[in-house]
Amino acid sequence: MGILYDEKNRLFKLDTPHTSYCMGTRDGYLLHCYYGPRLRGTDAAYLARTDEPPYTPARSARDKLSFLDAAPFEYPTGGVGDFRTHCLEIRTTAGHNAVELSYRRHSIQKGKRPLPGLPATFGSAHDCTSLTVTLADDVLGLEVDLEYTVFEDLDALTRSAVIRNTGAKEPVIYLTKVLSACLDMDDRDFELLTLHGSWARERVIQRQRLAVGRQGVFSERGETSHQAQPFLALLTPGTTQTQGQVYAMHLVWSGNFEAQAEVDQHGQVRSVLGVSPYDFCWKLSAGESFQAPEAVLVYSHHGLGGMTRTLHDLYRGHLLRGEWKDKKRPVLLNSWEGAYFDFDTEKLLAMARSGAALGMEMFVLDDGWFGDRRDDNRALGDWYVNEEKLPGGLKRLADELNAMGMKFGLWMEPEMISPDSDLYRAHPDWALQVPGRPAGLCRNQYVLDLTRREVLEYVWDRIEAILTCANIEYVKWDMNRQLSDLGSTGLPGDRQGELSYRYVLAVYELQERFCTRFPNVLLENCSGGGARYDPGMLYYSPQIWCSDDTDAVERLAIQEGTALVYPLATMGAHVSACPNHAVGRTTPMDTRGHVALAGTFGYELDPRKLTEEERSQIPGQIALYHRFNALLRTGGYYRLASYRENHAFDCWQVVSRDRRTALVTYVQVLAAANRRSRRVLLQGLDPAASYRLEGTDRIFGGDTLLYGGLPLEPLWGDFRSRLLVLRMQED
Ligand code: DGJ
Repeated sequence: MGILYDEKNRLFKLDTPHTSYCMGTRDGYLLHCYYGPRLRGTDAAYLARTDEPPYTPARSARDKLSFLDAAPFEYPTGGVGDFRTHCLEIRTTAGHNAVELSYRRHSIQKGKRPLPGLPATFGSAHDCTSLTVTLADDVLGLEVDLEYTVFEDLDALTRSAVIRNTGAKEPVIYLTKVLSACLDMDDRDFELLTLHGSWARERVIQRQRLAVGRQGVFSERGETSHQAQPFLALLTPGTTQTQGQVYAMHLVWSGNFEAQAEVDQHGQVRSVLGVSPYDFCWKLSAGESFQAPEAVLVYSHHGLGGMTRTLHDLYRGHLLRGEWKDKKRPVLLNSWEGAYFDFDTEKLLAMARSGAALGMEMFVLDDGWFGDRRDDNRALGDWYVNEEKLPGGLKRLADELNAMGMKFGLWMEPEMISPDSDLYRAHPDWALQVPGRPAGLCRNQYVLDLTRREVLEYVWDRIEAILTCANIEYVKWDMNRQLSDLGSTGLPGDRQGELSYRYVLAVYELQERFCTRFPNVLLENCSGGGARYDPGMLYYSPQIWCSDDTDAVERLAIQEGTALVYPLATMGAHVSACPNHAVGRTTPMDTRGHVALAGTFGYELDPRKLTEEERSQIPGQIALYHRFNALLRTGGYYRLASYRENHAFDCWQVVSRDRRTALVTYVQVLAAANRRSRRVLLQGLDPAASYRLEGTDRIFGGDTLLYGGLPLEPLWGDFRSRLLVLRMQED
């Protein structure tokens, strides 16, 4: 494992347990040579085709442009003749955009450098190795550090880039596009897999045949968004959960991004990932550097399932931080769907009492507790407790909850400001806005200009004051609109193009302060449901609210797409009341519990309003959560069937690390007459072992379950589900 440089072949080889990533230098260019199954030797340089026409400019400068437009670059640049999509584009003060990089030096170190001001995967000298390759453009006096890390025990690698204006030539260089990663390969009839959606319909999987030209996903909404995920994967034809080659890229970032694949005239595909160039222009003065976010790359030789488990392991082991990442989270009762804005202390305590009696462990007070927040039209920014609703404040509420054995958690939306708020009346200039142009409202709110120090300090001051006024053990950090009217009263004209990037940096700064100041408080990020569910936010909060759609059936596709790239224990999922508030569907309480069990698990309802039958099922659901939490949090996740694809049923499985226990969740969405049992092929079991189906005396060979399948009997009625537990038999 690790990284080596073969001097003779001028080849860098980055090895993980089962993969190799190779790049080489030819005539100064850093070219991508290979990514895929692990190679024995260092002979991959020929794959860059530099010995074929059009030759490198050193051998034949006549067709330099043809070379630049076809060679597989590690970090392609604009303005000099590579007409495909680039990673780096600039503009000089004289108005020119040419930039061309050549190799200068490299270094290999144990461990991994943190990215200043940015979330990133981490590792120690024991579990990872990093490479920095420095490229330079001497005409501009510009240097680029390409940084790579490979992990000892994972088939993943990370990349990022630092751009430096050395000041040798240009006092200022404007960066107009800085992406984090590029992967140039031959197209093998790839399919492109991306995740798309909308509010209440996040991260639905889409697969399409790659076509000539550019395609992909992006966000220009100031956050990663409901609409797209900063992720793409190329799949060889026919890739399934268990078979096929998968090349995946995921960005550790929470703002505008682009993830694109471009098939060129020669049948080569260039995949790029990074911060979107839309409305991006970064002024880089002499001596300054710009740090691009980190991209994660995964190659799987065993289909999508292999990719998923690598990403889960990487994020669980090298991205999630803090006390809660490896701990069972309290079963929460959130007030939102149970009370919305209609509550006072007595009502909240009555809800909590009712929930506590059923086994719920933490009461979360959602929106509506501050200022004049009667509804969602006002008061964001006025982070002072509304004592009319909550006499005695949050302290009294928290104390009473604690006295009944419940923890207390609180909702906040720190990044926003309502026009109808004391804060806005005092500081109308604190909202993002373009002078002379009334800013657009969304949910009747504006976005605070967190890039201004005094605004950030105000927000931090309020967070700190609230969190220290009562025993608050959990915070849900919400963000309910996307960014428009990008103007900051605090930035000069030639830096307005930095605003959306700086906004994300400011959110990171606030959340980093939060994690440092309140290390024991469990933080859950949220953005109008799951609009900022990205690896960047996971660095600060070990869980993220997945979607405002809590309907158990709708959640199947949302959670399938989310779990494709994110560990189950990060996925905010609650049991809610029926008819469901998003779609009006009534599903059995059991099914609601089984679907929520795939995520963080909790309740979002008024327990007093449930039927006796529903209430009676809650202690059993909570017992299941306690029983299976360690397995679900640490085990390997296998997608067995997809309702999104088959329109009939959903099925997934979690297997313990030692392969002794497997939990299968089966949801039959639509019942059908005259059906025989379904045989679902299990995965991840030990073929040589035997497994007992819990609650029965049926014993199956692991091999029979893997290759013959587990029989799932038809269930009576729609929206029915079952949990099946398999335990390895002792010899
Ligand atoms: C959007 C969130 O996703 C909901 O769960 C809830 O917290 C509301 N905001 C409150 O305004």
